[in-house]
Formats: sequence, structure tokens, C-alpha cells
Amino acid sequence: MDTRSVTFLPAGVKVAVEPGIDLLTAAGKANIEIKAPCGGDGTCGKCAVIIKSGKAKARRESYLATRLAEKGLNLACQSLVEDEDLVVEIPKISAMGKHQVLVENVALGEGVSDALREYLLNVWQLKDLFKQKHEDPLHGYPLNPLCRWVQLTMPAASLQDNRDDLSRLVLSLRKETKCTDINIPLSLLRKLGDTIRVENFKISILLSEVGGKAEVIAIEPGHRHQPLYGIAVDIGTTTVVAYLLDLRKGTIVDTAGTHNRQARFGDDVISRIVYAVDEPDGMKDVHQSIIDTINTLIQDLLVKQRKINEADIRVMMTAGNTTMAHLFLGINPQYIRLEPYIPTANFFPVVKAQELGIRVHPDAPVFCFPAVASYVGGDIVSGTLFTAMGKADAQVSLLIDIGTNGEMVLGAGDWLVTCSCSAGPAFEGSGITFGMRAMHGAIEHMQINPETYEVSYATINNGRPLGICGTGLIDGLAKLRRTGIIDRAGKFQTHLPTPRMRIGEVGPEFVLVWAADTEIDRDIVISEADVKNLLRAKGAVFAGIRTLLNVVGFEFGSIETVYVAGGFGNYLNIPDAIAIGLLPDLPVEKYKFIGNSSAKGACMALLSAEAWAEAQDVAGKMTYIELSVGNMFMDEFISSLFIPHTDLTLFPNVD
Ligand code: FES
Repeated sequence: MDTRSVTFLPAGVKVAVEPGIDLLTAAGKANIEIKAPCGGDGTCGKCAVIIKSGKAKARRESYLATRLAEKGLNLACQSLVEDEDLVVEIPKISAMGKHQVLVENVALGEGVSDALREYLLNVWQLKDLFKQKHEDPLHGYPLNPLCRWVQLTMPAASLQDNRDDLSRLVLSLRKETKCTDINIPLSLLRKLGDTIRVENFKISILLSEVGGKAEVIAIEPGHRHQPLYGIAVDIGTTTVVAYLLDLRKGTIVDTAGTHNRQARFGDDVISRIVYAVDEPDGMKDVHQSIIDTINTLIQDLLVKQRKINEADIRVMMTAGNTTMAHLFLGINPQYIRLEPYIPTANFFPVVKAQELGIRVHPDAPVFCFPAVASYVGGDIVSGTLFTAMGKADAQVSLLIDIGTNGEMVLGAGDWLVTCSCSAGPAFEGSGITFGMRAMHGAIEHMQINPETYEVSYATINNGRPLGICGTGLIDGLAKLRRTGIIDRAGKFQTHLPTPRMRIGEVGPEFVLVWAADTEIDRDIVISEADVKNLLRAKGAVFAGIRTLLNVVGFEFGSIETVYVAGGFGNYLNIPDAIAIGLLPDLPVEKYKFIGNSSAKGACMALLSAEAWAEAQDVAGKMTYIELSVGNMFMDEFISSLFIPHTDLTLFPNVD
């Protein structure tokens, strides 16, 4: 096959590709990650690269591509390899950096300085978060892992006891486990006769026992100590986090997190579904990307934990939103995005790791958390399990997970109502001029002097500013309003006496950082259009909360605890979030950051069959409220498009 080479700088990685392939795809083949929030549609402009040598062909003409070309930039997704070898530089602003991934022992991101850690602790009162790394991963459930070794000494076969080997084994196992429904696969049955005689009918059986059914996974001769580890994975649309667990001790051995490699197919689940469904080999690509992401995390963990081998990991638990679960298992996600938005499955079969290509023991069973609906998935069920909201003695609580979507659960004990509002990925930086994810160099906190309008800011890892992450956007919105730079409707006050206020290419904008102080040599601004986008996002979340309360006839005051979950949630400044009308005006003490509750729930379920049973129960009793039915949500949404709201009586404590 005729190929061309593409060399990506600054990494210097070279890849051979066929002519006709776009540079975004070529970068993916070279394992180089470029930002692609629109999934290669040519509409977001975030995949801009510099072609240093060679000539690429434009896929199609567009205003955006023409504007970038004037600055010497090309959209990677719209530039096709043609006749020539290419050398392509990826500017920092387009490169996918390291995420601030929320794992408990590095909760403020990789490489975070002590000074910044202390600063964030003080500013955002995150002290509770750090207690969590010492918390019991079982959260009160008994240690009873989904996979365990059982040692048996069976009566030896004789002329007097001439039962077949299988019956002998099943009877012994029933006595030991009290389980009546036991399945032994053919592959093990074929070797059973030999295995049990190696050490005179003494054997060790690896068993997965769920809901009264036991599946034999392995049979080994003798009663040797067998290592037993499991992996719990939170498959987020943006980030993926893996926990390596010692199933014998019920402890977390290590954690690792990274961004989801599916990001090159788009930031949000819809872009990924479109790619999976519309592109040739699309489904294979998005499925393989998440498998590769997880395998990389597993390898990272095993490199750090040298005494543990792939084959020692005998079971895996995953929790992700409904689309992620479908893509992970290779199930067609097409109908999730088409009205009436029905997923192929909410409950998923247990599969073997080798069927998915997951690099642990090939026979390790892989469990997926059940979902509730197309847009309320296993991550929310897992988070709800973690909060114990479904327990009989629970008080009325609200769980909010603001990520690429805003999902929430309200309830206590037997009743749980849930919904998902399409807040859009604005809080993850998408659709915002200088929006970016929580990575090195992202502005995440700022102050604006009300007299001079001068801006001071803090960035992740103290890097030179590259853009603004979700937390910074909320902070910024609150400060813009507090200093009168925008009015309650988000309109810029263009008459203010500061050069920071100006009219940009798309309308009024406010300069947060001058080009000379940035890493990208461009002024970092927030525009009126950005503010409108953020108002829509915060309005959708608040309207979702109000709709759930209306459905059950409750007021804000009925809520005892608000659990704020997710990577974004952990860095959120609650007073700012209330001030802009994103979260209800409740006492700060009622808010509880629970970190990556999806991953924590997954750990609990892996370590305790009782917790896994509870997860099934929680999923079964959640009532899903479809917000597009009726006018209730839309009415609430429109009222929420002001700062903090059109009805100020809902925010009595906001100035
Ligand atoms: Fe290329 Fe969005 S414009 S990925």
C-alpha cells in the first residue's frame, strides 16, 4: 500500500498513513492526542496545527478554516494527507495535556505543588477531600468480594464412593458456600479429572457468587495461597480512573487516571455515537479506544506494583454512563440519541476479560454497573450507592454530578427520582472561546478588582495561562457579575473605563490575561457569547433540580444533604456556584463533596456482593424523569437564564 509519512512535533513521532486520511486521525494512529471537542466536524477550531513542511489538502472550505489559515494554522480534522510527506507541529493550545484526574491519593492533579495544594485547601475548603483517601473503601458493607478462592478437600473417589467427579465437586462446594446454583464451564470440566487428582482431591476454586448463583472461574490443585486482585474502573466521557484492589484484604492498592482516548472522536457522548454509527469502522474505533485507555491504566498500575501480574487480576467492575457502557461492551449505541432515546440495555451481561481484550486474567469476569436510562447511567447508580441514599434510613438528599451533562438524583430510601439535563459541555470548557479542561495552565480561580478591573488569577500547577477550565469559568462568571462587568442577563457593560473591556470579533469581550502573560501569545478573553453559553449550562442544571423537586412536591428546604460528585465537583467553589444560580441557595454545610463517587461505588461493589446487590436494587427503584416531556423543565430553564435567577426569592442570601 502506498503511504506517506507524517511527523508530529514537538514529540517527533512519525507515522505512515494512506493518502486521504486527515491529520487528526493520523495523530490518533501515532498515539498523539489533539483536542477535538466537535469530533472532527470542523466546527470547534480546537484542533489547529501548523504544517511546517509538505502540503495537505483541505477537506472543504469554511470560514473558520480560512480565518485560521490567515494565522498560519490548519484544522487537523479538515487537512487531508495527499501526495507529500508532512511535518506537523501541534501548538500547546491544541495538545491534549494531562488532566486533573480525580483519584484520591492525587486529588489535586499530578505534579501539583505544595503551595497550590495549600492555596486550594484554604480557598475551597477541600480539607474533607483529603480525609477520603484514608476512608474505608467498603463504607460499612461486609468484605465479600465478587470473586474469591474457596479451598476444598473432597472425599476421595473409591469403589465404595463412585460418584462422578463433577457431582463430588458440586456437593462439596454447596456445603462450603451454601450456594445451590453452581455453573462450571466446559473448559474447566475438560481438565477436572486430572486437576482434582494432582493433590489427592484437595483443590482451590476461584468462585464468583452473585445473587445466589455461583460461577466457577478457575480450579487449581492443592491449597496454595493465591493472589487475588480486582480492578474497579470509572469510565467517564472525559476521564477514566482505575483502582487496583486487594480482594483478600479489602483495600485499595493503587490508583491511576487518564483522559478517555475516545476524546479524538468528540468531547460529548453524542459526537462519539455519531462517529461510531456513521464512520466506516467507527464502532470498532471507539470501542477499541476505551479498551486501550483501560489497558494503559492497568499497565501503569502494574508497572508501579511490580509484584502483581496481569493474571493476578481476577475480576473487574466498571461504572460509566450509558453510552460509555455500550461503547465499552461494543453494543450499538445508535438509539440512545434518537427519540424516544432508548438504550439497547440498562442491565448488562457479565463477560470475560478476553472477550473484550482487557489485559487482566483472560477468564476474569467483567461486571458493568446497571443504567437507568439513556442519560442516567451506571456512574450515577454507582454514585447513589456510595451516598447510601437508597437505604431505608436515608434522609432526603440530592446528588448532583456536573460533567458533560448534568445528572441528578433526589430521594430517600424507597423513592429516588432522577433526570439528566443537557447542560452541554460548557463547564468542561467546550464551546467557550478560551475554555479548556482542567489541565496544566488552566485558569481555575480569579479575582477582579472592582475599582480598577485588574485581574489576578491562579492556574493549575502554576503554569502560564493556556485557557480557563470549568471551575475558573464559574469563578469568573461570579466575579464578572459581582464587579458589575456584566448585568443579571449576562450583558457586558461596554462603557466601563478599562482597556480590558472591548469589542472583539464576535462582540463584547473582557480580557482576563494579556497575551504577553500567556503561554499562547494571545489575549485570553471571556466574551458575551461565552457568558450566554455558561448561563444556558447553569440554567439547565438549576432547572433540572427544580423540576425534580416539583415532581415530588418538595422545596429546597426539604433537602438535608447535597452531594456534589464528579471531578468537576471537587474543585467547585460552592458560594460562587450559588451566586451565579447554578446550585440552590442552601447553607454551605449542607453541601458535601464526595469525589469520584462512581469509582468509589464501583470499588464497593467489587469488594462486597452485598453492595453489588444493593446497586441492582438502586437501579431498579430509580424513577427517570424525561425532561423533554411537558413544559415544566423549559419554564424553569427560561427563568434560570439570569444571575442568579428571575425569581430572587429563591436566592435570599445572594446580594
Ligand atoms: Fe477539528 Fe473540531 S474543528 S476537531
